[in-house]
Amino acid sequence: MIEFLGASALGAAGCGLIRRRPEARLLASHIQPPHPFKVALPMPPVLKPVKISAVTDFYEMAVYPAEVEILPGVKTKIWGYEGSFPGPTIEASRGRQIDLLQKNLLPVPIVTHLHGGCTPPESDGYPTDLILPEAGSLMAHMNDPLAKIAKGQRSYIFPNEQRAATLWYHDHRMDFTGPQVWRGLAGFYLIRDDGEDALSLPKGEKDIPLMICDRSFAEDGSFRYPALDPSLIEKAGVEDDYMGGVLGDVILVNGAPWPNLEVANTRYRFRLLNASNARRYELRLDPPDADGTSFIQIASDGGLLPAPISRRSIRIAPAERSEVIIDFSKYPLGSTVVLRNDADEGPTSNIMQFRVTRSEKDESAVPVKLSDIPRLDPAAAAVKRNFHFSDGRVHGRSGWTINGHPFDPTRMDAQPKLDEIEIWQLTTDIGHPVHLHLVHFQVISDPEMGWKDTVDLVPGRTVKIIMRFSGFKGRYVFHCHNLEHEDMAMMGNFEVA
Ligand code: C2O
Ligand code: CU
Ligand code: CU
Repeated sequence: MIEFLGASALGAAGCGLIRRRPEARLLASHIQPPHPFKVALPMPPVLKPVKISAVTDFYEMAVYPAEVEILPGVKTKIWGYEGSFPGPTIEASRGRQIDLLQKNLLPVPIVTHLHGGCTPPESDGYPTDLILPEAGSLMAHMNDPLAKIAKGQRSYIFPNEQRAATLWYHDHRMDFTGPQVWRGLAGFYLIRDDGEDALSLPKGEKDIPLMICDRSFAEDGSFRYPALDPSLIEKAGVEDDYMGGVLGDVILVNGAPWPNLEVANTRYRFRLLNASNARRYELRLDPPDADGTSFIQIASDGGLLPAPISRRSIRIAPAERSEVIIDFSKYPLGSTVVLRNDADEGPTSNIMQFRVTRSEKDESAVPVKLSDIPRLDPAAAAVKRNFHFSDGRVHGRSGWTINGHPFDPTRMDAQPKLDEIEIWQLTTDIGHPVHLHLVHFQVISDPEMGWKDTVDLVPGRTVKIIMRFSGFKGRYVFHCHNLEHEDMAMMGNFEVA
């Protein structure tokens, strides 16, 4: 058996043996999970600005431990933006800048990244740009001379000079992103614009964000996670068995286990986000509508597609977004429709339930054309680069690498020039959802998917992405968004020069 390794990969690792690649693994709950579809779907609160100027909306958000009821009758300790999980939703308007002041009241460092944002480097949540806790004297020994470390609080500037899309913000602390997101540090950030508002897509209470993630619970109701150091203060990493990724056995939507939602017999827009550390979903409706369709997909990571696409099912990897219209007028009043996950069996094959309980007039429509997406021309690419994602040695342990290298803040893996187009060829050993900061790209073989910022690599297939490095000069990361892979070093840097 011949195995291709990237140019600088570690020759000795294979030794002629067939290595078993570590797969994501299920972490069982120690508490009886609730029956599905009993809890109503919660909506994350929308954060209100504390001040508005001519060009900027100012927000403040404290990040602190809280106790919330996720499983009925059980208290779970979380770490939450404003003490909630998901964090409050930020509603942004294209062209109006947001200044977000965050205060860290947790016992550990944090750093917040706006995923999908075209953000200046100093506000992009580089993994070493930590906000240390206000109390205590935690050292940040990260070996990064460029790290900009704050104590207690700092502001992030988000310009919002980008098209309407479903973004999300989450923690990005170097080596500890997996456990900190697992404890609750993730929320929606929705950018709206006039072009999209002018379409007659479902709006208001019929435009619903759905954050889907899996978690496991300990006997006392807290989240289980196989961290080597459960305090998350000193030692990074997870138990060896889980280096392929941590899978939970309870599915949460907007922080509630297998919830239900009562709907009218009209169209709804759902903004699906897979905020799981390592779990992929293949979503479909049960039953499908009379034409066998589950969804009309209208948007991906970077906003509206060129045209709507009818789908029987939707695959969604960690960090990807997919926006769909479900038309409940295709079901008789009184029906229940289950959102299922065909990527798994047992309890995690259920996500949530819709109950068509009332009749309403539908003012919405799905236009045949949604948006203009100019195709980037491969002939215009100034540079082509290859990146291979695979397991490998990381500081003497097993971990995850890009072109054989573990993450190192001081090593640049690419130096694209501002406003130039590049093509990156991505290959992989096992599935890795690969994400670039700053830019949105087009998958050359998949133009109908519009603008993407995360693409799920599969073994044996080369994915070519094309993008223009516009916006800002500076240092950014790209990485696998399986958060255990990311924490175990599957991350690289590019510097726009
Ligand atoms: Cu959603 Cu660098 O991450
Ligand atoms: Cu990102
Ligand atoms: Cu990965």
